Amino acid sequence: MPSVFIKTYGCQMNERDSEAVAAQLVAKGYTLASSETGADVILLNTCSVRDAAEQKAIGKMQNLAAEIRRGRPEVVLGFMGCMAQSRGQQLIDKLPDVDLVLGTQKFHRTAEYLDEILAGRREKVVDVAEEEGSEATIREHVVNGNSVAKSISAFVSIMQGCNQYCTFCIVPYTRGEERSRTIPDIVAECRELAARGVREITLLGQIVTSYGKREIPVVAGKSAFVQLLEAVHEIAGVERIRFTSPHPKGYGDDLVEAYGRLPKLVESAHIPVQSGSDRMLKLMHRGYTRERYLGIIEKLRRVQPGMGITTDIIVGFPGETEEDFAETLSLARAVEFDNAYIFKYSPRKDTPAASLPEQLPREVKEERNARLLATINEIGARHYEGYVGRCTQILVEGPSRKNSARLMGRTRSNKIVVFDGAERHRGQLMDVRITRAGSFTLYGDPAIIEVD
Ligand code: SAH
Ligand code: F3S
Repeated sequence: MPSVFIKTYGCQMNERDSEAVAAQLVAKGYTLASSETGADVILLNTCSVRDAAEQKAIGKMQNLAAEIRRGRPEVVLGFMGCMAQSRGQQLIDKLPDVDLVLGTQKFHRTAEYLDEILAGRREKVVDVAEEEGSEATIREHVVNGNSVAKSISAFVSIMQGCNQYCTFCIVPYTRGEERSRTIPDIVAECRELAARGVREITLLGQIVTSYGKREIPVVAGKSAFVQLLEAVHEIAGVERIRFTSPHPKGYGDDLVEAYGRLPKLVESAHIPVQSGSDRMLKLMHRGYTRERYLGIIEKLRRVQPGMGITTDIIVGFPGETEEDFAETLSLARAVEFDNAYIFKYSPRKDTPAASLPEQLPREVKEERNARLLATINEIGARHYEGYVGRCTQILVEGPSRKNSARLMGRTRSNKIVVFDGAERHRGQLMDVRITRAGSFTLYGDPAIIEVD
C-alpha cells in the first residue's frame, strides 16, 4: 500500500486535523512514512495566519517538486488546510506539480481523492467547497502513534470556524462559520480516548468559548461550553481538562465559577489579548476593553490563585502609536503573563485591517517585538523562579523532547517539568519538588517515593 508523509504548519487545530487525516489513511491501508524521502504521497497541511507561514509552505512545495518529484514523477503532492482553502486552484496554477488541493471542510475526503489520483482516474483534484456536517469529521486518532506523549494527552476538536471577524484575522475566511459538534458526540470520543489510556483532554477550536452558542440553549445560567466541560468532567479516567483558544468575551461568571467547581479543569488558560490599548482593541474588533480583560484575570485569580495565564499579542497593528504600544507593555506587567506569543502584524488578504492607511514599517514592528519579548521573558522568568523549592503535581507525559533519558510532565498551570523518572511513571499524576528553573522549563525531583 502507498505510504504517506504529512507535514503540518501552524496551530494545534492543524496538528489535530493532520492526525485525523493520518488515522483515516491508516484505516484505508496506507502506511505512515517517517520522512518525505521514499513517501508515495506528501501532504502539506498549511497555515494562513501570517504571510511567513504561507511562504514557508510554498517554498517547501517548490523544493519537493524540484528534489523529490524530479526523481520520482509518480509521487503525489498535495496542499491541505487553510492556505489550500484561501488560494484553491491558484496553487496549482503557480505550482503545476501539485496534484491535490483540499480545503478545511474536506479533510475526511483525503483517502477518496488520493485513491482516485493514485489509480489514474483523476489527474488533479481541487475541493474547497463548504460541506455540511464537516465539523464532526475530525474524530479519529492515530492508535500507537509514534509520539508517546500523545497517548497520555489528546486533542479533541469541538467546533470549526469563527464568527468574530477580528479585522486582522483570516481565520473566519479559511475556517468558515462557527459550527459545533454535539455534546454526546464529543463525550463519546473522549470516552474512547480515556479507555485507551488518555488522561488529559484539550478541547480545541478557534473560539471555543462560543461553542454551541446557536445550537445548545443556556441551562440554569450555564452556557453550552460550560455544559460541555461538565459532561467531559464526568468521564472516569480523564484526570485533566484544558481548552484552547477561548475569547475573552466568553469568560462569563459561569465559566469563571467552573474553575472553582470542576477539579479536573486545571488552573491554566491561554487567553489572547492582542493589545493593551482600547483604541487598538476597537480597531481590531475584539469586543472587549483593557479594563474588561483585566477584570476577567482578576476574577479567575480570585477563584484559582495559581492560575497560569498565557496570551497572544500583536505588535505593529496599523496605526499603533508608541502610546498604544506602551499600554500593551503595561498590560503585560499588570497581568504578569506566564508566557506570551508575540506576533508582528502581517496584512492578510481581504481582511479589513490590510487596507487601513497607516501600515507600520517592518523596523517598528521588529523593535516593538523585541521590547515586548524582553518584558515577557523577564515576567515569565519570575513566575518560573517562583516554583523553585515548591512541591507541585505533574501529569507525566513521556520522555523529555530535549533529553530522552529524562521524563517530562506538566503542572496544572501548564509548565513543563523535566525530571529523572522511569517508564512506569508515564500517565501518572505525581508530586515533584522543583529544584531549578530554566528558560520556560522547570526541573524537578519526585517528591514522594512510592511505597508499593
Ligand atoms: N483563536 C485562534 C486565533 C488564530 S490566530 C486560535 O488561537 O487558534 C492565532 C494568533 O495569531 C492570534 O491570536 C493573533 O495573535 C495572531 N494573528 C492572527 N492574525 C494575525 C495577523 N494578521 N498578523 C499577525 N498576527 C496575527
Ligand atoms: Fe481570528 Fe479573532 Fe476568531 S483572532 S480566530 S477572528 S476570535
